[in-house]
Amino acid sequence: MKLPELKIGEKIAKIPIIQGGMAIRLSTAKLAAAVASQGGVGLIAASGLNDDELRYEIRLARSLTKGIIGINIMVAAREFSRVVKTAISEGIDLVVAGAGFSRDMFGLGKESGTPIVPIVSSVKLAKISQRLGASAIVVEGKEAGGHLGTDTSVRELIPDIRKAVDIPVVAAGGVLTGQDMVDLIKMGANGVQMGSRFAASEESNAAPALKEFYLKAQPEDIVLIHSPVGLPGRAVR
Ligand SMILES: Cc1cc2nc3c(=O)[nH]c(=O)nc-3n(C[C@H](O)[C@H](O)[C@H](O)COP(=O)(O)O)c2cc1C
Repeated sequence: MKLPELKIGEKIAKIPIIQGGMAIRLSTAKLAAAVASQGGVGLIAASGLNDDELRYEIRLARSLTKGIIGINIMVAAREFSRVVKTAISEGIDLVVAGAGFSRDMFGLGKESGTPIVPIVSSVKLAKISQRLGASAIVVEGKEAGGHLGTDTSVRELIPDIRKAVDIPVVAAGGVLTGQDMVDLIKMGANGVQMGSRFAASEESNAAPALKEFYLKAQPEDIVLIHSPVGLPGRAVR
């Protein structure tokens, strides 16, 4: 199967993969730029970065690639709007917002035309996002690493959400292989977002010990925890 391009706002990714934002400082400029250079979308995890750090990462990524660079910011993070405004002032290509939902976020991208892409886990929030002006949505199922808003599989969510909205739909959670991508695209997704797969990559900013930990993890080591943002989280024990 020839993979389709992924269009978000005016930006077109030749490879329909978004590298998911991974705080804190796991997905920084180096990883985002590596993915963007290959034709995907690279996301700098902005949660926990101050303005100087965020500007530094965005400028570094820009110096490393001409590809598509966005930020990911947790809605639950302190100073959410400060981070989004700073990234927009640096000319970021898109803002992906996860770990919660805020109606206010859509207004932040309006003036500059910066695409705002919320992470949702239900038909209801997908529809609300479209109505409020989302350029695309990331749909995270129960398989995703991170802070989860659902216990439904992404493979169940995608067909229902595809029917409910016209904007691009990006599937996230447990996507590891080309076959996973093909399956989800056939179900109606326009692309995929992958986090865990990139966490132990060479370009990831994770400490070597954490990368080792990822690589050694067995299926029984994957557990559901109470994440710090008040949602369940899927994590390595
Ligand atoms: C270590 C780690 C950190 C993450 N940090 C964030 C984050 O800061 N904000 C966010 O919206 N999602 C975060 N995520 C979720 C990812 O962006 C992505 O949606 C998810 O990992 C997809 O599922 P997968 O890990 O099965 O590929 C994180 C995921 C991991 C594994």
